[in-house]
Amino acid sequence: MNVQQISKTAISAIKAATSSNELEQLRVKYLGRNGEVTLVLRGIGKLAAAERAKVGEETNEVRQNIDQALEEKQAELTQLALDTEVATTKFDLTAPSKSLLGHDHPVSQLLSDIVRLFWQMGFEVVQGPEIETQWYNFEALNIPAEHPARDMQDTFYLEDYNLPRTHTSGMQIRHMEQNQPPIRIISPGKVYRNEDEDARHIWSFVQLEGLVIDEGIGVADLKGTLLAMCQGIFGNDVKVRLRPNYFPYTEPSIEVDASCVICHGKGCALCSHTGWVELLGSGMVHPRVLMNVGIDPKRYSGFAFGVGLERLAAVKYQVPDLREFWRPNLKFLEQF
Ligand code: DAH
Repeated sequence: MNVQQISKTAISAIKAATSSNELEQLRVKYLGRNGEVTLVLRGIGKLAAAERAKVGEETNEVRQNIDQALEEKQAELTQLALDTEVATTKFDLTAPSKSLLGHDHPVSQLLSDIVRLFWQMGFEVVQGPEIETQWYNFEALNIPAEHPARDMQDTFYLEDYNLPRTHTSGMQIRHMEQNQPPIRIISPGKVYRNEDEDARHIWSFVQLEGLVIDEGIGVADLKGTLLAMCQGIFGNDVKVRLRPNYFPYTEPSIEVDASCVICHGKGCALCSHTGWVELLGSGMVHPRVLMNVGIDPKRYSGFAFGVGLERLAAVKYQVPDLREFWRPNLKFLEQF
C-alpha cells in the first residue's frame, strides 16, 4: 500500500471514530512506534537515492495530516461530550449550596469580639489614616527627633518624611485634638514596621489602641479594663499582672501579662515555663502628651494601651508563628 492509500484509509477511519479510545488506537496503528506511517519512514533509507527525498516529504506530510485529523476529531468528540452533558444534566436550582462561602479571617473575628467587648463598656471606635505625619506618630507622643525611643520601632520613611504609621498611638492625639474629656475610645488598624520577620515579628500587623481620659482615672481603671478585655477573649479564669516598662508617652509605663491560657500558670512552652505571657504595652498618659493637645493634666488623667491582634490571636489559638496569619494558606485559615 502506498503512503497516499494509507493516508486515505487512516483519515476516513479517524473521521468515523466515535470515542477517544478508538482515536488512540488509530494513532498507534498509524503513527505509533510500529505504525504504518512510521514503518514507511523507517524504510526510506532502503530506497533508491532518487526516490528518498520525494517519498520522505510525502510521508511527512501524510503524518502531519493524520496528526491534525486526530486532533480535530478529538476536539469534536470533547465538544460533543460536553454538549451531551449539558443537554442531559438537570440542575436543581433550589438545592442548598455546599459551604462555598468563606468566613472572616481569625484576626477579623477577634477584632469583632474585642470591639463588642469595649462597646459594652461604653467605648467608641475611631479610625484614622495609615500614612501618618511625624507629629502624630512621634512628636506629640513625646518622642522628639533625636530621641532614642525612635529606635524602639523601626520605621519606613516616605520621600516626604511622612510614614506608614508604626503604631496606632497617634490616634490618641488625633482624637484628643478634636474631643474633650470624658474620652473612651479604641482605635484598630494596620501598622507597619521596617524589621526582619520571624516567628514573633511581622512587618505589618493589626494593632488596637485604647484611650480613656477623665477626672480621677487611675491605674486600677487600667487594670480593671484590661482584665475585662482578657477575660472576654481568654475566659473568666485568666489573670493579669502589671510590670514596669518604658514608653515616652506614659508615666508610669506598664507592661501587661496574662496568666498562661494553656497551663494556667504551671509552666509550658507557650509561656517559656514562667506561667505568664506578655500581652501589651500600656500606661498612664504622660502629662506632656495631654498638654500637647490642650488638655489640662491637673484636672484630667487617663490611661492608654496598644495591643497587637495577631499576638492575641496567637496566644488564644496557640499558633507558634505569627507569620501564619498572613500566609495564603487556606488549610490554616479554615481552622478558625
Ligand atoms: N505604641 C506601643 C507599641 O506599638 C504600644 C503602646 C504602649 C501603646 C503603651 C500605648 C501605651 O498606648 O500606653 O509598641
